[in-house]
Amino acid sequence: MPETTIPGRFITLEGTEGVGKSTNLQLVAELVRAAGHEVVVSREPGGTELGEAIRELLLGVHTEAMSDMTELLLAFAARAQHLERVIRPALDRGCWVVCDRFTDATYAYQGGGRGFDRATIATLESLVQGELRPDLTLYLDVPVEVAAARIADRAHDRFEQESLPFFEAVRSAYLEIAAREERFVIIDAAEDLATVQLELTAKLQEYLTGFER
Ligand code: TMP
Repeated sequence: MPETTIPGRFITLEGTEGVGKSTNLQLVAELVRAAGHEVVVSREPGGTELGEAIRELLLGVHTEAMSDMTELLLAFAARAQHLERVIRPALDRGCWVVCDRFTDATYAYQGGGRGFDRATIATLESLVQGELRPDLTLYLDVPVEVAAARIADRAHDRFEQESLPFFEAVRSAYLEIAAREERFVIIDAAEDLATVQLELTAKLQEYLTGFER
């Protein structure tokens, strides 16, 4: 009899800029692989050819100001493409998906940062995703001034050019979601990288023991 495929799990990594997401994403993928699962690593906005084109529109600095509504809809447009082309097919064939940002970023940046209310974002979330939500979200938390200092010497994209109050609002929105959603695990990312990675490894291993193969 053919084995039935157990759908994969969907893990997301979140945090404001300068929290070390990219470095830690690789560690998350390695740990999940080491636990015996096939892994697809992706990111938002992006993850597909069209999604990456939308990412350029969203992050690029343009002479024409982008309306908040355009920004919100572009984030979900990229997501719709990503879900259909990458995320759902991977989960359906039993792969685990490890994604740098997902809809919590929309609640944090477009909700907390730009001021869209939760209900508006939730409507688009249901429309685009149906019931699909991440199974586990690792949130790297760093005080805004610390994060700003870490990215001070690199060229800033359209979001990174925002003010400290914008990032305070983004961080508060993330912490609000963390307080409400059981799938959220907060990692104190203000420490040095080795300490952060120890905490991340311990918390992820705890989750992974539930899925030993
Ligand atoms: P990053 O991948 O380098 O962190 O850049 C992605 C940027 O896009 C980051 O500033 C957060 C922003 N963003 C949103 O504003 N809304 C979203 O839904 C997503 C996924 C990202």
